[in-house]
Amino acid sequence: MNSSKEKARNDARKFELLYSQDVIARRIKEMGRQISRDYKDKDPVFLGVLKGCILFLADLIRNISIPIELEFINASSYNDGVERDKEVIMDGGPRISLTGRHVLLVEGIVDSGHTAVEIFKKIKLEEPASIEMVSLLNKPNCRKMPVEIKYVGFEAKDYFLIGFGLDQAQKYRNLPFIGRVLTKDK
Ligand code: IMP
Ligand code: MG
Repeated sequence: MNSSKEKARNDARKFELLYSQDVIARRIKEMGRQISRDYKDKDPVFLGVLKGCILFLADLIRNISIPIELEFINASSYNDGVERDKEVIMDGGPRISLTGRHVLLVEGIVDSGHTAVEIFKKIKLEEPASIEMVSLLNKPNCRKMPVEIKYVGFEAKDYFLIGFGLDQAQKYRNLPFIGRVLTKDK
């Protein structure tokens, strides 16, 4: 079995750290403050896009000081790896009615914009009072279609990022930091 020191050395070789736990926590606190101000008295519905939103959403809502409701939508694709998703599949759509509500879509990362555009279309059918988006990460250089993101945590380069909810073939979501993979797991 690996000692914890060996494990730390192996992990350091495996990932390049891009956003540390501290940096992420500080930014999410700021975002929470701003959203709490903007949505005061609006009773918003936070609509998390699974699965990438989970860690961000959990930390964000703990930094929200106004009443909110929480709902999820599941968006995935056939492609499980690092290649860009070709088709967006949605299920487990919101059970809370969004009609007349102020909806804030919560994403882990926006890349081509394809997923966001499909979800926006679906939600608009319910005629919400407003719909805006918050994403922990944005990769503006990867955009294939325009998406308006009202609150962005970090503008990232065109790396494939993992950790803090983001996966590569379903792995690494549990890492408490955001980085990129240097060597692949066996
Ligand atoms: P889209 O290209 O904007 O539709 O992004 C599709 C989905 O791909 C996102 O919701 C993420 O789940 C995933 N994704 C995009 N870029 C990355 C990345 O750098 N790391 C991990 N997942 C990503
Ligand atoms: Mg993924």
